[in-house]
Amino acid sequence: MIIAIDGPAASGKGTLGKRLAQHYGYRHLDTGVIYRAVAYAVLETGGDLHDEALAIAAARAIDPGTFGNPALKSHEVGNAASIVSAFPAVREVLLNFQRQFASEPPGAVLDGRDIGTVICPDADVKIFVVADPKVRAQRRTLEAQSRGEQADEAAILADIISRDERDRNRPVAPLRPADDAHTLDNSNLGIDASVEAAIAIVEAVRGKR
Ligand code: DC
Repeated sequence: MIIAIDGPAASGKGTLGKRLAQHYGYRHLDTGVIYRAVAYAVLETGGDLHDEALAIAAARAIDPGTFGNPALKSHEVGNAASIVSAFPAVREVLLNFQRQFASEPPGAVLDGRDIGTVICPDADVKIFVVADPKVRAQRRTLEAQSRGEQADEAAILADIISRDERDRNRPVAPLRPADDAHTLDNSNLGIDASVEAAIAIVEAVRGKR
């Protein structure tokens, strides 16, 4: 079984994906990390994030061994990822890696922006996670503070809003729910309740088959 989880930044889909994968004994891929790794590689070489050739080269050289690097989690790298991910050729280079991951047994949970629409349009279950931008900014602020980083909630909110806009309005693989996606609004749900709600969606879809 393939479970696709999409949604905007800081909607909690990463943690949700991980927990769902644990619940079902599946593998989990946070696809945002891939775009973050590409952006980080460009930044590391002192390159311009808007230079398409640099981003493509970084995507071709992607090394899953680097996905655990804590530096990828920062808010700045997230914004940088939103910029490089808008290049169609970068997405193209990363497509096979994601499909390959999804296809291997015993099953997989992938979370991102375009899993249900582009990467795995035939996913068995598609969940689109949303939450109020203010709640997402609060979550990001607490996360950053727990990592010992300074965080300005108002600035984070402004970034979240502009990133959503860029992710939604890009011509290739924009952030949007697939027609057959189930929307999960977790503005008022903690992580445990979100996981329960997601499991309920998966079980409801399974039961109908
Ligand atoms: O989910 P995240 O914050 O780690 O994602 C960082 C950026 O990467 C996001 O703003 C847009 C891009 N991204 C994407 O274009 N497609 C995906 N499947 C996942 C992330």
